[in-house]
Amino acid sequence: MRCYFVFFLLASVVPILAQHASNDVCPNRCNTDRTLSDRECDHPVTRSLCAVEECEDNGYSCSMPGNSFMISNNQLSLLEFVIEYTWSPEQRDLDTSTRFLDGNVGFSCSSANDYLDFGGDNTSKGGTEVAVIDVEKARQDGKWEDSTAIISNAGWFASDNQGGAQMKVYLRRKSDGGLAEEASVSDRINPGTQRTCSPHNVATVKIIRGSLHTRVTLEKA
Ligand SMILES: *[C@@H]1O[C@H](CO)[C@@H](O)[C@H](O)[C@H]1NC(C)=O
Repeated sequence: MRCYFVFFLLASVVPILAQHASNDVCPNRCNTDRTLSDRECDHPVTRSLCAVEECEDNGYSCSMPGNSFMISNNQLSLLEFVIEYTWSPEQRDLDTSTRFLDGNVGFSCSSANDYLDFGGDNTSKGGTEVAVIDVEKARQDGKWEDSTAIISNAGWFASDNQGGAQMKVYLRRKSDGGLAEEASVSDRINPGTQRTCSPHNVATVKIIRGSLHTRVTLEKA
């Protein structure tokens, strides 16, 4: 009887703790017993969010996938996704194309939709282009359920390839633009060249919704 009580106590406390330290959802401990790790990774809180990885000596761990962050589902309706592309003063006129559901925003791209907005074309040396996406509103409207993705394309306008640029994905509050803590990933990207809406894929932002948390992963093309 006492054993059951302790079990229920733990079972109810663990998800509450996990909700507060949302970047520690994946336990990331090396277990020498493979079965234990698999089970840990298949817990309702971690299911589909963590990656099972081999440990150095023996066994497996349930780990956070690379270039990812987690956010509590209950915070998401207050936040919007920002996709930001930047290039250096030695480079000029990167054209980006950001795609979400049926929308595609950027220079010469088809159009925005109810959830996807574009800050505008920037033809400067050393510029920034930004797309803003209300991913949670789209889910609440039934446009996606367990997972969705944002596709990022980019290329230099009508020029030789000017080299790499930078891309960042972060969450900010819709109310005052304040940044959500520990909710940011970035990477170098390798743009192509073009004269119209860029067809050159540089990255995919994968969004996976678990029972309590959502994982955001930036995967370079
Ligand atoms: C282009 O980006 C730079 C750097 O962020 C910014 O200072 C400038 O105002 C932008 N220009 C336009 C037209 O948005």
